[in-house]
Parts: sequence; C-alpha cells; structure tokens
Amino acid sequence: MSDLIKITDLDLSGKRVLIREDYNVPIKDGQVEDDTRIRVTLPTLNQILEAGARIIILSHLGRPKEGVYDENFSLAPVADCLSRLLGREVPLIKQWVDGIDLGKYDIVLCENVRFEKGEKANDDELARKMAALCQVYVNDAFATAHRAQASTYGVAKYVPMACAGPLLITELKTLSTVLRDPARPLLAIVGGSKVSTKLTILESLSENIDQLIVGGGIANTFLKAAGHNIGHSLHEPDLVGDAKKLMALMKKRGCEIPLPTDVVCAKKYDENAEATIKNIDAIEDDDLIMDVGPETSARFTELLARAGTIVWNGPLGVFEFNQFSNGTRTLADAIAKSSAYSIAGGGDTLSAIAKFDVAEHISYISTGGGAFLEFLEGKKLPAVQILEEAARAWTAMERAREY
Ligand code: 3PG
Repeated sequence: MSDLIKITDLDLSGKRVLIREDYNVPIKDGQVEDDTRIRVTLPTLNQILEAGARIIILSHLGRPKEGVYDENFSLAPVADCLSRLLGREVPLIKQWVDGIDLGKYDIVLCENVRFEKGEKANDDELARKMAALCQVYVNDAFATAHRAQASTYGVAKYVPMACAGPLLITELKTLSTVLRDPARPLLAIVGGSKVSTKLTILESLSENIDQLIVGGGIANTFLKAAGHNIGHSLHEPDLVGDAKKLMALMKKRGCEIPLPTDVVCAKKYDENAEATIKNIDAIEDDDLIMDVGPETSARFTELLARAGTIVWNGPLGVFEFNQFSNGTRTLADAIAKSSAYSIAGGGDTLSAIAKFDVAEHISYISTGGGAFLEFLEGKKLPAVQILEEAARAWTAMERAREY
C-alpha cells in the first residue's frame, strides 16, 4: 500500500465531506440485525464532525435493480440505527443525486446508492454528480473497496480532494502486516454457499496455507467431487472438477482438505425443519446437508488447536437456524479459545461472530467480505488504487507549490 491521504492531513473545518461507508448489513423485519459495520464507523464520523465538517454518507445495501426504488433495499433501518448509535438524528435523503440541502443537519445518509443508474458501471456522469456534492471525499468502506463503482471509484476522480478514512487504513495495514509473515501453521477456513464466488481465493490460498477447511455449500461441492451422494444439497455441479483439482493440489503439498464425515441433514430448507445427524455415507436422495456433524466438528477443533494463524471466512452450515448452528458455533468457540492469531472477515462471518458472542476473542475482525477475500488473494483493490493516485497527484502538487 502506498501512502494515502488521511483525514488528519486535511483541514475539514466548514467543509462538506462525502463519505463512502459500507452499511450493507443484514436487515430483518425492518430492523438492522447486526450493527457491527455501522458501529465501527462511529469514530470516523465523530472525528469528522469534531473537525467542524458536515457529512453526507453514501452506502449500498444488497444488490437492488438499478433505477428502481425498492423498499426492501432501503437504508431507512440503517438511518434509524445510526441515529440511535450516534445519539443524533441522521435523516435519510431519498433524492440526493442532483444536490442536497443539508438544512439544520450536520450529518445525513443518502438512500441506497445502488438505486442510482450507473453506480455499478462506474458511470462518469453519476460520478461527477456525486463529486459535486462535496469538497472532500472520504472512502472508509474497506468492505466495498474491491468494487470499481461510481461511489467507490469514479467519484474520486472528480472531487477536489479524495482521501482514505481511518477504518480503511487500519484494515489495509493490519491485513498486510499479518499476512506478510504469519505464524505457522497458517490455517484458512473458507465456508459459505458457493465455490464460484470463492474459487480464486481457494486457489491462491492453497499456495500459501498449511491447512484448508471448507464449509457450507462449498464443502458440498467438494464432497460431491470426492464421490459422495449429497442428495439435494446446495452445490455447484460445474465446479466439481475445480474442487477435484484443488484437493489434488493440497494433497501434493501434504495437507489434505478434511471433508465432513458426518453431517446434520433436513428434508427441507426451513427454520423449523427437523435436524438429523447422519454419517456422510448415509445421505438419502431427498436430504439437504445443513451443517457438519459433531464428529467432524471435533476433528476441525483439533486442527484449529494446532494453528499459529487462523483466517476465517464463511460459516460451516445454516447457522441462522439454531438446529443447524452447532458446527459454526463449535468452530467459533475453537477459534476463540485458540492461542493463534485469528483474523475473521465476511458478512456472514460477522453475523456468526455476533451470534456466538466471540468477538472479543478474535484477534482481528475485518469488515470486508469479498474485499477481504480479494485482499487475501493479493489482488489490488480498485477503490484503494484510485486513492493512491489521488495521493500521488496531491504530493506532486504540494512539491510544486513548495518549489
Ligand atoms: C459485502 O458485503 O461484501 C460488501 O458490502 C460488498 O457487497 P457486494 O458484493 O454486493 O458488492
């Protein structure tokens, strides 16, 4: 990471600051279910307010259809939650793209940036409109830094000043420091629903790590690749070949991917579905694998106890339903008890950490999901690259001024 401009490098007094946050949080029945991603931004927001600036916040929520308002993706619950946490009203501005009258407010939240046409495609016109809202643009959204979109990338080209927020800087510094020289063995847990979203991370991790544990729908694809009947379980038939290759690669390196030997099954995907523990060879055609079984959990716990560094992304099962949460709970507890340096990241992982109340026992919790994974892969994050460019341009300008 090259040098980035920090908010403390700037005089923010009297300025309008446009800040990109990642408030892509789980919402249930109109309420924020896990406010971790909101809480971690409070120090940044307070710091900017104390510096005498007014704040306009941009964020996305989910993946709505562009150009169409959809209440299900409204940031209204986030505005309520943020107002409560900050102890001051943060109104939600529905129409903001053509200008905002801040009125009596020092801080406002704009409605879901992904309702705007052109956000995803990093449309220039939209980026310019965003830039016109402020004098200073701050990107503090590490979790969205892997997206080159209008609010994460394009806008930075057109603002008078683009800088990095403290949260973004901390994430980049911590992750690079730990991953450069990890205590060995380095164990990674990659869970969640789809191999396709995590294939490249699995491939690149397999080169550097000493042990890999796969979980959730990803593990099902690996189970299928190993020749097991997985019934109706979530998996990706097209990626069975890739899973086979990865298993062979890890085996060659002397660290086989341990697959579940027992699992918790249901006959339907339902909050009230009956949970049945089965040996992996006893799966019926109408079974759905929803979690790992106790024998598998015990094996994973042993592996975790031996690790020097643990990287955790993704749950082992459908932990949202209590009867299928034991695998992920046991994993979370084992990580919490381990003396290894532990890093966790990802939306579902954050929810699991909150649900099992282990946050204070994890060495570092990243707010990133996809961004966290791309960082681990060694990829350049576009939102960081554009801030680096802004910093280079600024330094050159300062030098010219001094000269
Ligand atoms: C995340 O939850 O990982 C980020 O908010 C990015 O969301 P996205 O994958 O929809 O861009």
